[in-house]
Amino acid sequence: MANIILSPNWALKETDCTTKSAYTNRRKFVTTLGLGAIGFATLGGCTAQSQDPDDGPLDKIPENAPRDGFPASRNETFQVPERELTERLLASSYNNFYEFINQGNLKRVWPLVDDYKPFPWTLQVSGEVEKKLTWDLTELIQSMPLEERIYRFRCVEAWSMTVPWTGFPLSTLIKKCNPNSSATHVKFTCVSRPDELPGQKKATWYPWPYFEALRMDEAINELAFVAVGMYGEPLPKQNGSPLRLVLPWKYGYKGPKAITHLEFTRKQPGTFWNELQPREYGFLSNVNPNIPHPRWTQASERLMLSEGVENRIRTQLFNGYDEWVGDLYPDEPRSPVGPIIR
Ligand code: MTE
Repeated sequence: MANIILSPNWALKETDCTTKSAYTNRRKFVTTLGLGAIGFATLGGCTAQSQDPDDGPLDKIPENAPRDGFPASRNETFQVPERELTERLLASSYNNFYEFINQGNLKRVWPLVDDYKPFPWTLQVSGEVEKKLTWDLTELIQSMPLEERIYRFRCVEAWSMTVPWTGFPLSTLIKKCNPNSSATHVKFTCVSRPDELPGQKKATWYPWPYFEALRMDEAINELAFVAVGMYGEPLPKQNGSPLRLVLPWKYGYKGPKAITHLEFTRKQPGTFWNELQPREYGFLSNVNPNIPHPRWTQASERLMLSEGVENRIRTQLFNGYDEWVGDLYPDEPRSPVGPIIR
């Protein structure tokens, strides 16, 4: 297949952001509450903000999403003190979710999500496990103590955000799956519902459903997080409702959204973007300013705060999480090299 069709169009223009009117509505609401971006950043423990029905992107939280445990108390270990939070409206209106492809503007996912009805949702577990499992997700979420973590989020396209996620550690879920010692990797497969997901129906050149994978030592790292919410509320559909992975030391595409299936394997599975463009997207895909993408630098990034407000900052090794994950990657380049795929 021609590269021009397969290209994820990563590296889009800033004009692909939120509509002005949606932003202005949100802004008005925020001003009424007397909170600006700094206010959001300093709200302790709970970042819930009420919804304005005209907000558009923020109105895409499924009505039947479980809300027990929301807003969750913040785990103070995971903070990003040097940054303000990205404004919630921007984080839910500037998205990558190819199941909802929008030919005109790939980032504008939220207007396309209305047919997608995530709940009820089942999560299946198979492969190298004691016993195959199928969980009802609402029951699973209710059995998990939820917490909030603020993480840096870095896309391979060299834009970034700072987001408060609600969820639970992936290691807790993996313990419940009871994998055999023969498992070396875990594969995550995402939703397959072409009737609800216009991208799956139209963009037939992609190998649907989306799939990703981790080594077991990565999957049980303390940072690996299953998010079921953000900004104190359940996930909007465009952000991966009903559940997604957040791996803050890796590029965003390693974090699959709308996961339906975990499979424990004995060897390294393939991944969606690696199989499509192996010369650009590797298996590990750790954030690393020393390894340029073949088509652009990864030494710096656009840190997005709200529509039209962003700062150019230097990218940090492992996105600033070296102390958590550095030991997992002795071969990761610590000084500049040319484009290599890892
Ligand atoms: N998961 C699925 N199922 N489909 C996708 O297209 N895109 C990935 C990742 N997970 C994607 C996905 C990419 S490229 C990024 S950067 C993040 O989701 C974007 O998450 P966000 O839209 O919440 O910022």
